[in-house]
Amino acid sequence: MIIDSSDEVSRFVWLKRFPFPRNFNVTPESRIEPGHTWPAPAGATRTKAFDIYRYDPDSGGNPRLDRFYVDLDDCGPMVLDALIWIKNKVDSTLAFRRSCREGVCGSCSMTMDGTNWLACTRFSSDMATPATIYPLANMRVVKDLVPDQTHVFAQYAAIQPWLRSKTPEPEKERLQSVEERGRIDGYYECILCFCCTSGCPSHWWNGDRFLGPAVLLQAWRWLTDSRDEAKEERLDNLEDPFRLYRCHTILNCTRTCPKGLNPGKAIAEIKKMIVERES
Ligand code: SF4
Ligand code: SF4
Ligand code: FES
Repeated sequence: MIIDSSDEVSRFVWLKRFPFPRNFNVTPESRIEPGHTWPAPAGATRTKAFDIYRYDPDSGGNPRLDRFYVDLDDCGPMVLDALIWIKNKVDSTLAFRRSCREGVCGSCSMTMDGTNWLACTRFSSDMATPATIYPLANMRVVKDLVPDQTHVFAQYAAIQPWLRSKTPEPEKERLQSVEERGRIDGYYECILCFCCTSGCPSHWWNGDRFLGPAVLLQAWRWLTDSRDEAKEERLDNLEDPFRLYRCHTILNCTRTCPKGLNPGKAIAEIKKMIVERES
């Protein structure tokens, strides 16, 4: 559920401002149990152990941690290669998302050795032994390593992430100077992997109202685009105690972004723009 304005929740204001973490008193059904250990491939001389989170809602069982041994001489160098190897050679029911295998589509984001990153751009050799792989935190799990991103994409849609113009459409393209184009550098490269939002403590606590770093970085991408003509409406939409101001500049987001972007800076720029328009 997305709450559009902080005024919408009046009866539980205090609870909403100081909520208990959602996983407080974890229920027995969600405890992670020891899983299956799959045998090492016969004849392999160089193997690496991967402990992988497994959850199948149709089975009715608890989540578990399965151990797989990957034959490094028969597998590409990245963690995504290891996952594909496991799916092809050991357990075809292992579920994960991937598409480009080049760090471009943002679909293979997951938590590896406790850090959010893209499986296709993390070397298996950089992982601990055993390597641990979980789905992105703070999202419901659809199956195994596949998180439900319905909520974060609904938040993304809420900022209207497209060019909004009022002037008549030109005959050709809308021109920008080199300098104007340069202003979206560091923002347009976001691939919406949501590694940052999953790692943001403010989004863990107030994810129904705080938009989170990925969406706010995207909001700034449009605010700073010289061709966009909806700046005031965009700022009005963001100026809310929760939507924007629940960011406390902890900068987990910037630390974890696999594209080297800085959502914390983008959020600070939005706050600065709001102050400037009011002064
Ligand atoms: S800087 Fe803001 S958005 Fe980034 S992790 Fe911290 S609270 Fe979240
Ligand atoms: S800012 Fe970085 S971590 Fe966040 S969604 Fe974009 S690419 Fe992913
Ligand atoms: S598969 Fe596209 S970013 Fe990893």
